[in-house]
Amino acid sequence: MNSNPSAVDWMNCVFCEDALTGMARIPDGSIDLIVTDPPYGLGKDYGNDSDKLGADAYLRWMEQWIDIALPKLAPTGSLYICLTWRYSPEIFVMLKQRMTMLNEIIWDRRVPSMGGSVRSYTSVHDTIGFFAKQKGYYFNLDAIRIPYDAETKKARSRSIFVGAKWLEMGYNPKDVWSVSRLHREHPERADHPTQKPLEIIERMIKASCPPGGTVLDPFMGSGTTAAAAKRCGMNFVGFELNPEYCALIEKRLARLDAPIEQMMLPLLDDIAE
Ligand SMILES: C[S@@+](CC[C@H](N)C(=O)[O-])C[C@H]1O[C@@H](n2cnc3c(N)ncnc32)[C@H](O)[C@@H]1O
Repeated sequence: MNSNPSAVDWMNCVFCEDALTGMARIPDGSIDLIVTDPPYGLGKDYGNDSDKLGADAYLRWMEQWIDIALPKLAPTGSLYICLTWRYSPEIFVMLKQRMTMLNEIIWDRRVPSMGGSVRSYTSVHDTIGFFAKQKGYYFNLDAIRIPYDAETKKARSRSIFVGAKWLEMGYNPKDVWSVSRLHREHPERADHPTQKPLEIIERMIKASCPPGGTVLDPFMGSGTTAAAAKRCGMNFVGFELNPEYCALIEKRLARLDAPIEQMMLPLLDDIAE
């Protein structure tokens, strides 16, 4: 964590400041991957007013930070942006004017069936856009293949399949990612209302950040992108407005240097839910 505005060294720092001014610290072309989960324009409480803008002001603000962030990407760079259905159409159009859209990924949060909307369908997914700066973008499919289970392997035990490379390598993830949201009891859970699971962010980083590369997240929240980058052996840089979340990020990252049994201790000491 570094809150000194005159610091020259920005690598592996999360700055406790407004990303829109803070990103000036980062030289253009120096970022391999942007993974971000900005405020959704839904009025959520992050201990500040960042999610309380009206629709027009929200979309103007989104465009503003996008135009500051994109020049930071290297030519082989890409971007994942976590959104909700509410504004993803407008934001995807905005990004398609600047980048190549590769996927709309649906994160199925596996919310259990306990009530929900009564005049429409209950939303259980987040919408994630995956965009590349140019055609030659970095993408390592082998890093994210999913192993076939024993049953599938057994079913493919006929001689024509023996030694088949694809059977050993596993299959490529599809564009619907079914990963449970972080319940209160989850060991990963920190005191942040919209914390993303490491599993999701780590998949993005493994696939789209070259070894030893650098990941930018302008809206760190509880620091999931920083923790995921560190766990994957990558560098990170990011920003967060709320000083309490900045302290949480510091704690989370320090845990990653701790012995393995302390790494996943609950970060929920004082959460009120
Ligand atoms: C959706 S949350 C990110 C959650 C994060 N992905 C996680 O897993 O914890 C968005 C975060 O952006 C922060 N934020 C909002 N406006 C900001 C700004 N201008 N600069 C930096 N951080 C900002 C909010 O305080 C909030 O914590």
